[in-house]
This record gives sequence, structure tokens and C-alpha cells, in this order.
Amino acid sequence: MLNVPPQAFPAPGSQQRAAAGGRTKVPLKPGRSLMDWIRLTKSGKDLTGLKGRLTEVTEDELAKHNKKEDCWICIRGFVYNVTPYMEYHPGGEDELMKAAGTDGTDLFDQVHRWVNYESMLKECLVGRMAFKPVAAPKGMLSERKVLGASARDTTPSYDWFQTDDLITVVIYTKRKDMNAELVIVDCQDKRLRGEIILDDHSYLVEVDLDHEVQDDFAVNVAGKLGKVEITLKKKDHFQWKVLGLPLESHNTLMKRMERGLFYRTCKLVSKTEVTHDTKLFCFMLPEGTHLQVPTGQHVYLKQIIAGTEVVKPYTPLLPFLPLDFKELSHQDGAHIYLMIKIYSCGLFTQALDHLQIGDDISVSNPEGDFKTSQVQGVEDLFLLAAGTGFTPMVKLLNLALTKADCLRTVKLIFFNKKEDDILWRNQLEQLALRDERFEVQFILSEPAEGWVGKRGKISSSLLSECMKRSKKDSKVLTCICGPTPFTEQGIQYLKDLGYSHKEMHAFTA
Ligand SMILES: Cc1cc2nc3c(=O)[nH]c(=O)nc-3n(C[C@H](O)[C@H](O)[C@H](O)COP(=O)(O)OP(=O)(O)OC[C@H]3O[C@@H](n4cnc5c(N)ncnc54)[C@H](O)[C@@H]3O)c2cc1C
Ligand code: HEM
Repeated sequence: MLNVPPQAFPAPGSQQRAAAGGRTKVPLKPGRSLMDWIRLTKSGKDLTGLKGRLTEVTEDELAKHNKKEDCWICIRGFVYNVTPYMEYHPGGEDELMKAAGTDGTDLFDQVHRWVNYESMLKECLVGRMAFKPVAAPKGMLSERKVLGASARDTTPSYDWFQTDDLITVVIYTKRKDMNAELVIVDCQDKRLRGEIILDDHSYLVEVDLDHEVQDDFAVNVAGKLGKVEITLKKKDHFQWKVLGLPLESHNTLMKRMERGLFYRTCKLVSKTEVTHDTKLFCFMLPEGTHLQVPTGQHVYLKQIIAGTEVVKPYTPLLPFLPLDFKELSHQDGAHIYLMIKIYSCGLFTQALDHLQIGDDISVSNPEGDFKTSQVQGVEDLFLLAAGTGFTPMVKLLNLALTKADCLRTVKLIFFNKKEDDILWRNQLEQLALRDERFEVQFILSEPAEGWVGKRGKISSSLLSECMKRSKKDSKVLTCICGPTPFTEQGIQYLKDLGYSHKEMHAFTA
């Protein structure tokens, strides 16, 4: 089904994505951008007020520094003087003050655990928290489960064996629903890191291997048995006495949130124009990496900008909308495709745009709380996207049209400012012609004269007009992604229209 009127419109102005419920960026004063902050940190100014001296901070001492003009925050056992950063914090001073004089680790992680505070605040470091066994920082030994012989039957374990040519590491996950997307392996410079995602937990095998291995390796997942095999090729034919030296987090099971983000270096392979301000980037994973980004999840890109590590989230998609939907046939596993809007004054996206083919960039493991099982049994799927909020919808469309057995309709309601902002318009129109279950509706907030389609911003009346069930009481899922106000308002309108919590999913960081 096709629902495409023929005219023009421009680009979503600012930030294209949603953050978790109720949070939003605040307007910063001129001269308070991230670049300005980086400049200040490089200026040699004493930002802690301690003349570079590091000190051990007790809880009582920390609590005393709880005012805007004298504000210390502890994150993962390290204390920072964030007073100089106050006016530069994109979430605003009040948000930062919520953690004033306390251990803000949980709060920080809830909002943006991916933000690289260590690098951004290194000139603000006051020192470490004085050691207090009962109050060990979250995510460290107190929270972490180091697995040993006494591990219970349900916790994963590993073993290894060898032939003359091969080393096989076997991980017994003790789950019956394993698949390749839940296994992330990196093997470089004799260092093996195998992470297994088990719902909101992660199990890690991490060792410095005893001898060198070749770059390529095989990963086999016996889903029903819950067994994962990583087969490495020896460089020589030695018999290994041990697998290697266990690294700090080896053989641990912990909450995913508490496991630090792991990055590997990828290469930019191509960069192609999608619209006047949006490009499709293709990055190649190293040979020693096994990683597949599940539908609905994002990765973090990390670049060093003016000497400071800067991190931003992006949602991998497919290189094109496969008109002939075949399950994952187009995923080669070695590349990650990202569709990114380049902001004329955006620090990160400008740096991305200046990358040359062959340049390196760090790419993290995937994250996100969308579960493919949410699509199971769904009869009507509504996708509400604004601007680059379209990116998670690509894999979702693929998943729904190939896998959801009961699916009757998929409707993409795509909000943009102007006609030339619409991403992959031709492909969407083609798909709508090919697959009668799929319909696309473009809605413009600043259409040119002559636009005969719908106009306006997301509203309750637009949604009730555009979202029609294929039958009364059909099983519905509505997925929404766009700038924070778009997502928050959208969720509210859906609630007002009677959609339940289970019938909605918002893509956020
Ligand atoms: C889970 C998730 C997935 C995402 N996936 C994608 C994706 O697939 N593709 C994509 O293009 N983007 C995606 N984003 C957005 C992306 O992470 C960046 O936010 C975006 O690329 C902007 O980065 P930047 O550093 O270049 O711009 P910024 O420097 O952050 O600025 C962007 C624009 O907003 C303005 N701005 C920024 N902060 C403020 C402020 N406090 N007050 C006023 N104006 C401000 C700037 O002037 C500029 O015009 C995603 C975000 C999330 C949370
Ligand atoms: C611990 C208390 C903190 C709270 C409650 C908090 C809250 C927030 C909120 C609500 C936002 C806006 C939402 C978003 O864009 O994701 C934000 C953004 C941001 N915060 Fe914080 N923050 C805290 C600490 C810090 C610290 C210590 C840093 C240090 C560098 C920091 C750096 C940032 C950055 C860089 C962003 C912009 C993220 C982006 O690029 O989208 N925050 N914060």
C-alpha cells in the first residue's frame, strides 16, 4: 500500500534522538559548548582548586562539597570537582546537582553511562574515595560475581581443549535460547575476550593467551544446548599448558550496565550521501571480531577530539531497504552501517564527516532494551519516526516482514520538516508497492507550497487519524524514535489514545 504525496520539505533542526524518560538537554550559554569545555581543560587552569594535588576523600568530606560553587561528585570511586563543568553540562546544572556531595555513580549510569567522564573531567579529579569495604563502588568486587568451583548450576562456566592446530574454548551458558547475536568475541594481540549476553547480565571470558593465534577464528553456537564454541587457530604447533593468563574480569557474571563499554577499532570503508545533511557510513570490523548488532540496539562511537575522548550513540542499519525481504541475507557480519545526520555546528558529527576512507574509529558493543520477541504475535505494527529516528526502523521492518508470522500491517509514520529531509524515500515507496502489508505516510511540519500530504507535528489527532488497526482488538506494537520531545509527546498521545505500556516501545540511550 502506498500513501505518498509528491512534494518537498527540510531537515529536522537539532538533536535527532530520544533520551530516557523525562530527561532533556538544556540550552547552554554561548561559549559553553563541549569544544569550549575541552579548550578550558587544556588551558592549564587549576580546575580542582587543589593545584594538581590528589587527595583521599572521606564520605564526610565529600558531603561538605554540595553547593554549585563548590561541588564534588564521586563516580566509580573517583571524586571530581564539577563546579567548573556546571555551565557546560548539557543536562543542566540542576541535574548535575542531584549528585552533589554524593556517590553519583548510579544516577550517572541511569542517564548516560556511555559518556566518557574520565577523559572529559580528568583535569577536575580531586582524588579517590577513602577505602571503606562496605561501600565499595558499584560494579566492582562487591557487585560482581567471580565464578569459581562453587558456582551454582545456573551460572555459566567455560572449559578449553586443544589439537595440534586448534584451541577451542567452550562456554556452557546453561541457557536454551542462545544465538550468535548474544556472543561477542574479540581476539587481537594474543588477547581473547568473549562476552555472552544473558538478558540483563553478561558473562565474560577474558585471557591473555598462552601463545599467538591467527587473526581469524570461528564461533559456533549450539542454541538448544546453550553451548558456545570459540575455535582459534594456533600460529605454531605447541601444546599449550594453560589457556592463558586470566585478566581482571575473566570468568565473571555481572549486570550488563556494570560492565564497562568495550571498544574495538574499525575502519571507515565508505561514506555516501543520503540527503543534503545525512550520510551513510560503512565501517569494517577487524578480522578478529565477531559482533552482530541485534535489531533495535545501538552502538557507541568514540573519537578523540582535541585530545579528549568523545562518545555518541548511533543505531546500525542495513545498507539499503531489502525489497525482497530475506532474513539477514544482506548482513555480512563484517561491516556496520550507520546513517548519520551531520550538524553544521555538531562537534562529533563534524569530526565524523572529516574522516577519510581508511581512517580508524572506535565502535562499542551493542546496547539497548528492545527484544525481538516484542514483535512475536503482533498483527499491526506502527513505526513512528522523526528524522534520523528512522534508523532503528530499518532492521525492525526487516524483522517484522520476515519473521512476524501473524503480521497483517506495518505502517511507518515518518515525520520530517521538509520533503528533502525524507530518508530513503524512494526505497520506502518501492517497498510499499512491493509488499501490501507495508504502508508509509510522510508528515511534514514545514512543507513547501503544493505539498498535498499530511502536515503538522506529532499530535493526538494526527496519530488517531493515521493509526488504524486492521481489525478490532488486533495485537498492536507501536515503536517510536526521534528527538526527546517527539518521543515523550508521542508516548503521552499514545497513552491518551488508550494504548497500553506493553503496546509501545521507545528507542532511547
Ligand atoms: C540511542 C541513540 C541512537 C542514536 N542513533 C543515531 C543515528 O542512528 N543517527 C544519527 O544521526 N543520530 C543518532 N543519534 C544522535 C547522536 O547520538 C548525536 O546526538 C548526534 O549525532 C549529534 O552529535 P554532535 O556531537 O555532532 O552534535 P551536538 O554537538 O550534540 O549538537 C547537535 C546540534 O544540536 C545543537 N545542540 C546540542 N546541544 C545543545 C544544547 N544543550 N542546547 C542547544 N542546542 C544544542 C547543536 O548546536 C547542534 O546543532 C542517536 C542518539 C541516541 C540517544
Ligand atoms: C551524576 C549526575 C548527573 C546527572 C543526573 C546528569 C544528567 C544529564 C541529563 C538529564 C542529560 C541530558 C539528557 C541526554 O542528552 O542524554 C545529560 C547530558 C549529558 N551529561 Fe550529564 N548528568 C550527570 C553527570 C554528568 C557528568 C559527571 C558528566 C561529565 C562529563 C556529564 C556529561 C554529560 C554529557 C556529555 C551530556 C550530553 C550527552 C549527549 O551527547 O547526548 N553528566 N546529563
